[in-house]
Amino acid sequence: MSRSRWRLVRVLVTGSTGFLGRHVVRTLVDAGHTVRCFHRPTSDLAPLADLAVTFAEGDVLVPGSLKAAVEGMDAVIHLVGILRERESTFEEVNVGGVRHLLEACERAGVPRVVHLGALGTSERHPTRYARTKAVGEKVWRESDREYVILRPSVVLGPGGDFTERILALIRRYRRVPVVGKGQNQIQPIWIGDAIRAIGAALQAPGRRTWELVGPDRLTWDAFVLRLAGGMGLSRRLRHIPAGLARAVSSVGALVGREPTVTRDELFFLQRDLVGRAEQFQDLVGEPSAPLETWLPRLFP
Ligand SMILES: NC(=O)c1ccc[n+]([C@@H]2O[C@H](COP(=O)([O-])OP(=O)(O)OC[C@H]3O[C@@H](n4cnc5c(N)ncnc54)[C@H](OP(=O)(O)O)[C@@H]3O)[C@@H](O)[C@H]2O)c1
Repeated sequence: MSRSRWRLVRVLVTGSTGFLGRHVVRTLVDAGHTVRCFHRPTSDLAPLADLAVTFAEGDVLVPGSLKAAVEGMDAVIHLVGILRERESTFEEVNVGGVRHLLEACERAGVPRVVHLGALGTSERHPTRYARTKAVGEKVWRESDREYVILRPSVVLGPGGDFTERILALIRRYRRVPVVGKGQNQIQPIWIGDAIRAIGAALQAPGRRTWELVGPDRLTWDAFVLRLAGGMGLSRRLRHIPAGLARAVSSVGALVGREPTVTRDELFFLQRDLVGRAEQFQDLVGEPSAPLETWLPRLFP
């Protein structure tokens, strides 16, 4: 995002302390935008500490805190979303939080919202995570706001939860566990490209939804072996029947242990997660980067 290309805006970033948020905030500041970071009282602000930003403390479950945070903003980038239920439910955060943000934006007259949905979600999806993400998107579509919805596939980059978990599995096991037959396809996107798309969405035509995927479509088996190869590790795969993986995850949850992979995640891991790469090009003006160009950057 160069300074000359974009109109400068005052933008609130929710989820500013998360994987995408930390990168988004830094990139927006570098591009000259005025950034306010929405964070919880418990959030770790260290990754944002060296940046010229202001902060707004709150919680998407508390409507008043969002109302104060959006005052005077030209845009909001909404990155809050949960993949696991810890202190709050999917419904509360992925749907209720969006409704609270919509109310706050309507009241303050914020002209534009960039909302992070997720690829492969729908209101009829078997998992609650995916259903709530889909309903969260619908909140904007049913409003009269200028929204841009981005639906990323799996975003890869250093510090990302998914990235770190899969790399840890590959480091730990000579025969890396893969749920199911490993023939379902994914189309991962590099964190740098996801951030470029979010920046572009600030100025893109409104009331539109874009899929964010990289150009490479590969099976889970091929993906895991590519990662292992990139790490210089010789690995084989161990296919775990989906039913067994679900049972282990459920037993863990029953005895109060947080599972390495939740039942909802297991479901996602067995389905194709692919999209239309040309949408990235339409939004950003350039194609997303092929896997071979960014893979080495996962292993600094
Ligand atoms: N990463 C991916 O591969 C991927 C793929 C598809 C879609 N997405 C979507 O992209 C968005 C960002 O993902 P991410 O990977 O950056 O997520 P993340 O690393 O888990 O970050 C989530 C952020 O939301 C904040 N948050 C959670 N509950 C909150 C609440 N009740 N009130 C205020 N803030 C709250 C967290 O704050 P704390 O720091 O206090 O915990 C954190 O800043 C999400 O909507 C996600 O569904 C991500």
